[in-house]
Amino acid sequence: MGRLENKVCIITGAAGGQGQVAVELFAAEGAKVVATDLPGKATEAINDTMQKYPGKVRYVRGDVTSTPDLNQIIKTATDRFGRIDVLFNNHGVMVGSPLLETTEEEIDHVLNINVRASFLLCQRVAHHMVEQGDGLSIILNSSVGGLVGFPDMAAYGASKAGVAQLARSMANDLKEHQIRVNAVAPGAIDTPMPHKYLEKFEDREEIWAAMEKAHLTGRLGRPEEVVWLVIFLASDEASFMNGAVVAVDGGYSCV
Ligand SMILES: NC(=O)c1ccc[n+]([C@@H]2O[C@H](COP(=O)([O-])OP(=O)(O)OC[C@H]3O[C@@H](n4cnc5c(N)ncnc54)[C@H](O)[C@@H]3O)[C@@H](O)[C@H]2O)c1
Repeated sequence: MGRLENKVCIITGAAGGQGQVAVELFAAEGAKVVATDLPGKATEAINDTMQKYPGKVRYVRGDVTSTPDLNQIIKTATDRFGRIDVLFNNHGVMVGSPLLETTEEEIDHVLNINVRASFLLCQRVAHHMVEQGDGLSIILNSSVGGLVGFPDMAAYGASKAGVAQLARSMANDLKEHQIRVNAVAPGAIDTPMPHKYLEKFEDREEIWAAMEKAHLTGRLGRPEEVVWLVIFLASDEASFMNGAVVAVDGGYSCV
């Protein structure tokens, strides 16, 4: 029996580097998964997972900044699988700009997607979970950049600190409903996100090497190294984990 056997799990940012791996590993642990990402995102990996676990994975296109799309994500889970046990609020965007050059559009964009949309989705999911009334779990993907100061990431760092604080605050507000809320704070993970950030630099190989060196492990993390922690937090094994922001950062934040 899998660690998430028959739990209905929503995963946002599902077509991204960590999201695709989460869909696969959640399904492998027996979960019923509603995977969602922006229209137009490549979904071959999710299609493969759907074929491997027939009837277990449903994909719904949606922009988490759109209220109708948030409602559709939740409706897909309840129509298809009848309930919601777990939300992995994983979607996110990065703005890597020096403070003095960050525009109003950039700060609005990153706060809107990373914080506002996460708040509204978690709130909607929590309403459903309260109605269901049994032990459930919400996990948010924060960042080590929300725990310590990264250069050129004031906007992203503020948004990810906001995500971490959402987890702590929601855990308080939902304590009477046996809904546990935790966040993971990954170090740099080898997904499209850091590669996209580095595109604008000519010395990107040197920056990549410096990023690797900043982790005690001497390398970036792999998506599954975050997702295994998320699966633990989603599972009943983590029944005493609540309101925690857990670093999974190869030692980045301990120096
Ligand atoms: N890769 C890293 O180094 C790193 C480190 C710490 C935290 N994180 C966080 O991990 C999470 C997953 O990121 P990843 O590494 O897989 O990067 P990624 O860029 O591959 O995935 C992010 C996903 O979020 C989706 N997304 C963005 N805006 C959206 C919107 N408006 N509506 C719906 N979906 C939207 C994207 O389409 C994308 O598929 C993010 O929250 C990110 O901030 C990443």
